[in-house]
Formats: sequence, structure tokens, C-alpha cells
Amino acid sequence: MRHAVGRPLRGVITVPGDKSISHRALIVSALAAGKSTIYGSNRGADVAATAAALTALGSPCVTGENGAVEVEGCGPIGLHEPSDVLDCGNSGTTLRTLLGICAAVDGVSILSGDRSLRARPMMRVVAPLRRLGAHIDGRRGGELPPLVVRGGHLTGTEIKTAVASAQVKTALLLAGLFADGETRVVEPERSRDHTERMLADAGVDVRVDGTAVSVPGGTRPGPRDRRVPGDVSSALFLVVAALIVPDSDLLVHEVGLNPSRTGSLSVLQEMGADLEIVVDDDWGGEPVGSIRVRSSDLRGTAIGPDGVAALVDEVPVLAVAAAVADGETRFTGMSELRVKESDRVAAMVDGLRSAGVDAEELSDGFVVRGPARLHDAVIDARGDHRIAMAFAVADQVAEGSIGILGWRSVETSFPEFLDVLAEAQRAS
Ligand code: S3P
Repeated sequence: MRHAVGRPLRGVITVPGDKSISHRALIVSALAAGKSTIYGSNRGADVAATAAALTALGSPCVTGENGAVEVEGCGPIGLHEPSDVLDCGNSGTTLRTLLGICAAVDGVSILSGDRSLRARPMMRVVAPLRRLGAHIDGRRGGELPPLVVRGGHLTGTEIKTAVASAQVKTALLLAGLFADGETRVVEPERSRDHTERMLADAGVDVRVDGTAVSVPGGTRPGPRDRRVPGDVSSALFLVVAALIVPDSDLLVHEVGLNPSRTGSLSVLQEMGADLEIVVDDDWGGEPVGSIRVRSSDLRGTAIGPDGVAALVDEVPVLAVAAAVADGETRFTGMSELRVKESDRVAAMVDGLRSAGVDAEELSDGFVVRGPARLHDAVIDARGDHRIAMAFAVADQVAEGSIGILGWRSVETSFPEFLDVLAEAQRAS
């Protein structure tokens, strides 16, 4: 990828619909009795995989010309055995959350995905689902996809999860809706809470108590029309680009500002970022608002180990901010980053180093020492959308050009990325 480098980002933009909320909107709608319409759903391949899987399970998800998605919910009883493997593509959220549903759907479901997904750890969700009574098998005893699920009777219980993962929590809460009795999930740290908010908005009696969430068994969410706010994780690429390219002044509006997702904005503020964050709306229980960002001189900071769950997807682009910042930035408590779509710790350290940045890998994170003068480089995105976009942001301040191998991975979450970047740069 080559393009004109470093024009300021100005004007007002929106970013595509939040990926996490879009997956959940499809799934919760599929469990309802009746039709729900989702406006502003994410158009990337990950969410499309969820829509296709739900359609195969008996709940048709149809995208209209205006991009609105209509879901014919058929609820727990209406869902049926899919006639083919459910291809979850690159999407961990699709595979892990649907596992919770397939555990209760009569018959056999087989869930698989691309090479990256087939190498990602699944025991974190398989083991607790088994405790609810689910029958799941797979490679290495259920650690790796393809996973085979035989749906059956589930019984609610209390589960303490080993990692703070919203995908795992969501799978358990969804399974819990089909179970007898209450299902209570206790996490080591609270992960993003979109599922809880959406189920509550759909009439389910969700109880939250510290890091514990419970749902009653045998309940069914009601159908709802939903608007999906812009994805703050996608917005972060533009926010960091605006911070590091001089003379930028950008407003991102209609973006989701759920506090379980905005840890990266607080970190950037600690680094000296000039951000104005305003929550001015509520869409189905999700806070929505705007982020105004002006170019800023950044300084290094320490990120993690506390609070990593609230910024886990933003670490790649925060690493780019750290490269430009004055001083050292330490990222610790990042072992989850090693089991994302790629090993994001290794991918960022390798890529930054090849562009001339002083970066060092740690066992549970990495250190970046800035300010760096980034130079010509070709980096391997390792098939990971967030690595690809992080380096497209780095390219904005590089002397020369950063080439990105594996650019197509942006299709999973933000196919419109280059268009939105160009729109912001045209306004300058
Ligand atoms: C997601 C949860 C997070 C996040 C992923 C989306 C979700 O993963 O990294 O991009 O929608 O629930 P984990 O559950 O593995 O932390």
C-alpha cells in the first residue's frame, strides 16, 4: 500500500458500526421471537460470518440495500442443526459466542474457520460450557477448531473464568438463557459488557455485581430495532493518526463510548493527547458521543497490567503512538495479545523495529522508546487487520513509505479504512 503521506486529518467523520455490538445484535435478535432490524451494523467479514452462521442455524439475517439487516428471530426452539460446517472465517467472536448457542441446539454443529482461527485457544470457552453440560469435542480435546458440538440439556451454575474475555462470558450467558436455573459468570477483571447491556435492553433480567454477571435460565430476549454506534476501536486508528500528524483537528461523531472499551482514550490523555470526549446519547443502553482530537506532543507512559481488558484491541495503534512519543512506554500484562488474530506483541515489535523504532519484546508485553524517526519499511501484517491498520497510521509520519503485506485483512473489521482516512485528509 502506498499513498500520499502525512496530510493533516480534519473535518467530521463517522466510522463503521461497532463490531462487537453488531455480532451481539445479530445473535440476540436471532434468539428473539419475531423480526428485529439492525441499523449501522458493521459490514466487515467477521460480522458477515456471524450472519451466515445464524442463517444456517435457521434464523435468516438479510441485509437490505440501505445496509440495514433484518433478522427473523426464531428463538431457542426454532434454531436447528446446520446442514454444513459453520465457517467463522477469521472471527473468534463468531466461533466462541455461537458455541454457547450451539450447545443448546438439537443435533450436531461443527464450527471452524481460517488458519489463524484454527490455531486459537478454545479450551477457555469449551471447559466452562462443559460445566453447564455441553457436549463439545475438537482437536486436542477441544482446544482447537474445528469443534463439534452436540446440543443438549444445560444446567445453570456459577463459573469462575480464568481470563477476562467477553467472548467467553458471552458464550456462557447465551448458553445460560437456554439452561435450567441461573448461570453466573465471575471474571478476574470485567471485560466489555455489551452483551449484558443488550440483553437487559431486550428484557432479560441480567444481574451485575462487581465482576459477576448472571442470567436466569429459560428466558428469551424480545425483538428490538437497534442502531449500532461507530466502533471506538476503529476510531482509534484515526484518532492516533490525527494526534501524530501536525495541524490535525478531527471530530469523530456517533461513536460508541462504553467505558469498558475506552481505556485507550484515557491512556492517550495520560500521554498528553488533546482529546474532547462527549457522551451525548444512549442507543439501546450503549453510551454514544463524539471524540474531538487535535495534534499533540505525546510522552511515554506505562500501560497495564491493570485495565488491559478495556484497551486490548487498541494496543497495536497505541504502540504507534508510543513510537512517536517522547520517552519510554511500557506495555505489560499483554499475554492475551499473543493469542489474538496474530501474536500482536511479536508483530508490533518486529514491524516497529523494521521501521527504525527502538522496541523490545518482553514475555508479557513490550517496551517502545521514542521519539523515533520512522523510515521506509515493508512489514508483515500477519493476516491481522489491526496490525495492518496500525502500520498504515505509522506510515503517516514515516519518512518514505511503509509497505504492508496482508493489507486485505482489513476486510474483517474496517473495509472502508482507506476511504475514511482519505476523507479526513481531503478536508485539510
Ligand atoms: C471481543 C472480545 C475481545 C476482543 C475481540 C472482540 C468481543 O476478545 O479482543 O476483538 O466482541 O467479545 P476476548 O474475549 O478474547 O478478550
